[in-house]
Amino acid sequence: MASVTSLTDLVNQQLSSALSATRPEASADPLLRRSDRADYQANGILALAKKAKANPRELATEVVAHLTTGDLIKDVEVSGPGFLNITVADRAITGNLAARHADGERLGVPLKENAGVTVVDYAQPNVAKEMHVGHLRSAVIGDALRALLDFTGEKTIGRHHIGDWGTQFGMLIQYLFEHPGELAPADEVDGTQAMSNLNRVYKASRALFDSDDEFKERARKRVVALQSGDKETLELWQQFVDESKVYFYSVFEKLDMEVRDEEIVGESAYNEGMPETARLLEEMGVAVRSEGALVVFFDEIRGKDDQPVPLIVQKADGGFGYAASDLTAIRDRVVDLHATTLLYVVDVRQSLHFRMVFETARRAGWLSDDVTAHNMGYGTVLGADGKPFKTREGETVRLEDLLDEAVQRAAEVVREKARDLTEDEIRERAAQVGIGAVKYADLSTSPNRDYKFDLDQMVSLNGDTSVYLQYAYARIQSILRKAPDGVRPSAHPELALHEAERALGLHLDGFAETVADAAREYAPHKLAAYLYQLASLYTSFYDKCPVLKAESPEQVANRLFLCDITARTLHRGMALLGIRTPERL
Ligand code: ARG
Repeated sequence: MASVTSLTDLVNQQLSSALSATRPEASADPLLRRSDRADYQANGILALAKKAKANPRELATEVVAHLTTGDLIKDVEVSGPGFLNITVADRAITGNLAARHADGERLGVPLKENAGVTVVDYAQPNVAKEMHVGHLRSAVIGDALRALLDFTGEKTIGRHHIGDWGTQFGMLIQYLFEHPGELAPADEVDGTQAMSNLNRVYKASRALFDSDDEFKERARKRVVALQSGDKETLELWQQFVDESKVYFYSVFEKLDMEVRDEEIVGESAYNEGMPETARLLEEMGVAVRSEGALVVFFDEIRGKDDQPVPLIVQKADGGFGYAASDLTAIRDRVVDLHATTLLYVVDVRQSLHFRMVFETARRAGWLSDDVTAHNMGYGTVLGADGKPFKTREGETVRLEDLLDEAVQRAAEVVREKARDLTEDEIRERAAQVGIGAVKYADLSTSPNRDYKFDLDQMVSLNGDTSVYLQYAYARIQSILRKAPDGVRPSAHPELALHEAERALGLHLDGFAETVADAAREYAPHKLAAYLYQLASLYTSFYDKCPVLKAESPEQVANRLFLCDITARTLHRGMALLGIRTPERL
């Protein structure tokens, strides 16, 4: 494994040396960026000129005199008020890509120094409840962020903080106690049956709860039994959890997402630690008693009528809730899992909750300066009307229905284009295209923004969609398959490059930087935008530069090489977003 220094970094290094050779006493960043005029433009001389009280254009000319042109920089010229336009040598571009190509799966992307441990809290549905479109984003964004972080060398640990605890279980368990056998054993049902069983029990127990005061009282007692760890009660509770997991796994499988059992650590897992959390907070004076409850106040957080909004650690009846489980989870993640970053991929509507939880944990010393806590609060999925996505009847949309529909639409698209695909292949591709479309639409928008769920647009072959990228990948594979016998993709740095080849090559060189930015900023959309641009640059390369019919065998090999590294970069990038790239489409 050998990481490759990008051309951008190499040029930057040379420029930095030239800048400090010109004005050793002042330092300045060359401020290098890609440019339309040349390959790169450096704007940093303006700032240096200001510091050194020099004329920027004259200074720029001096800097140019300190730059050696040759293997890396082919040409440099002063432009505008004192910018530098820099063109790199064709040989450097091809050579750099060859080094990336030789690095296999990592494509020369370096592992970051001082990697830490990030605990990613994502994909956290609630037991005995249907997953809806709101759960989609946390799963998709969380999964992509994890892949991105892992690829940079960060160690990630997943935590699916499922809603598996709380007063609602009193009602459910009591019902099951009085109607044994209503839930089939978890190992005998599939996801759909599991959910329909859970739904049935939920509705029936709810009806009883609302109409029968004596049942209500028995349900309330059941909560106490559950919280105090009564064996029989816990067994019934476990049945709900197991049945729900069958269902969750079926949805995650549909989403083509790996979820590991040991990372499903729900609210209940922190039950035992919650009294201690409360005791410590009270002892430290972080939390105070108020009307019987144990709460934390914040000067800055106020609600209606300027009343302070407290975080409730323990209710007046002694029960613990959502905040107590999150606070206890922080202790566990920092102390036992040695997390350096806590990342929560949770709906932005819970951002106040996390603000209060983080602040409380800081006051208690559970979060120190060495630990960053961040809520990656995402926006809402909207319907075509711009309102939160609902069915025609105004109900929340079940996640599975939505995924099924996406796959069905994708099947139509795949079938239309399919020439040599069998029915089985069409079905397999439809799943990869349909689920990819849903994920890509989500990930290509900045997470904090809302987006419209529009299947027509998502599975369109034109525009910024996953299927466009998947087709680009499959087309490249088909070209590679058609390569004449004996001609393998191989780099020929001695060849002059076409403008379109240069543009493609320079973009490929930026992969590592994009991955690093997207991971650091928790911004998968930056990777999506990069990949879309890659596919577009590839298309214009392919339009302008014949590959299999290029002038010489070396030219054919070199262009096949460009095709191959583009394909590998697309494949890797899409995999980081959790999206498949079928070899044929
Ligand atoms: N189960 C919660 C919900 O559906 C999300 C849990 C988020 N994670 C957390 N640590 N609070 O709203």
